[in-house]
Amino acid sequence: MSGPASVKKLMSAAVIALLIVGAARVGIAQPAPETPAQRDARMKWWREARFGMFVHWGLYSALAGTWEGKPVGNKGGMEWIQQRVKADTATYAARAIPQFKPKPNFAREWARLAREAGARYVVLTSKHHDGFALHDSKVSDYDAGSVLHRDLIKEFVDAARAEGLKVGFYHSMIDWHHDQYEYALSKQLPHPLKGSPYPNGKRNHAIYQQYLHDEVNELVSNYGPIDILWWDFSAVDFQGDQAWRATELMSLVRSKQPRVIQNNRLFRIPEAGFTGMGTAAIAPQLNPKYGDFITPEQHIPATGMPGVDWETCMTMNTTWGYNEHDRDWKSAETLIRNLIDIASKGGNYLLNIGPKADGSVPVESIESMKAIGAWMRVNGESIYATSASPFQKLDWGRCTRKALPGGKTRLYLHVFDWPKDGKLVVPVNGGKLAVARLLATGKTLPVTSAAGATTINTGSAAPDRIASVIALDITGRP
Ligand code: GLC
Repeated sequence: MSGPASVKKLMSAAVIALLIVGAARVGIAQPAPETPAQRDARMKWWREARFGMFVHWGLYSALAGTWEGKPVGNKGGMEWIQQRVKADTATYAARAIPQFKPKPNFAREWARLAREAGARYVVLTSKHHDGFALHDSKVSDYDAGSVLHRDLIKEFVDAARAEGLKVGFYHSMIDWHHDQYEYALSKQLPHPLKGSPYPNGKRNHAIYQQYLHDEVNELVSNYGPIDILWWDFSAVDFQGDQAWRATELMSLVRSKQPRVIQNNRLFRIPEAGFTGMGTAAIAPQLNPKYGDFITPEQHIPATGMPGVDWETCMTMNTTWGYNEHDRDWKSAETLIRNLIDIASKGGNYLLNIGPKADGSVPVESIESMKAIGAWMRVNGESIYATSASPFQKLDWGRCTRKALPGGKTRLYLHVFDWPKDGKLVVPVNGGKLAVARLLATGKTLPVTSAAGATTINTGSAAPDRIASVIALDITGRP
């Protein structure tokens, strides 16, 4: 350990004791309780955004799925490479750090890509499970400031803001580096040394908790307004206040960032939207004291979840962090239709990129983001600020909607399968004044309304192979 780094550590050890005593006595200022109307106002931009870009990037990106010259695998989360090869933190850091070489302006490329794709927010891994922090931290020497003499978080935040994007931090509570993180307290949470005794003898998890709070405090104090805190993750056997002093952590964040939106992963209980372990174990409920939205991972819920804010996060291939061996890319068609499907169920789509060691984005991801952007430039009004479909199921595609003045409704019909006979049937009586317009051309299409059905004369050729959108204005609220 270098001189200044050990001083940092000693200082933090000294203040920890004081802080623990201090926080217990004074208590972190509890934010005033929020009314439902205040909550709606705070959630408004996020609910309207519908589409965000996730970025998984850290030391693991530099290893790119290769360890000692051999591929570790071509499937699954390679940001877990340290765990997959069971490396201790010193070995992992020694291999990864020399290869982690962020180029100048990497963040500008990401931010431009996100904006051009039509994403309204970007969430970056400020720290993943490996414990390496991308900011310049005073409480750690395992951070970009100490190791690279750069503050990658500042570069990211500045770039995202310059493109008009909302900014979020993904922050892992799990930490495979910190020498007081008591991994034996959970049977379910991953750790590369799981099952082995602590290399440094006895550990004190309270010291780790304080470190976690201090590190997060830096992130919410030093970078201006932060829009999202994306926590990751807890286990049924280790979660919440016991594991992370979670309620206090959320209050700390809220006290520094009153408008911040936080996910549910500091907890893992049904009231927080979880039915168990596993990415599919979600419950369609969320008590606001456990977070603002729930986080289905790598899947789209079968139906909408009225009254619950949710966001599906998803990879473009099968990994979050860069893996040069993973060629299993989803098509642009799949990604665009996923975005539509999610919007039609009232959720958000957080779509991941996993940049390389220098911050450059894999070409497959660039191409997909550009394809989404091209589609959004024509059809974005059918996604942003819309609400869930009034229909259970439509044979030809999906639907979103917006309320119009005068009691009218605009239905956005996302046609995946263009009707061969040129007649699109919508199961609603649109009334005599129903008007249909193709977003791609602005052209009005003839409509006939009858009891229980409105038929649109579409003509035979689909304007967009992936999804053509017709805006249908009808009388009333279906
Ligand atoms: C999981 C994984 C992690 C990934 C995340 C994204 O919890 O541990 O690697 O960052 O989900 O949702």
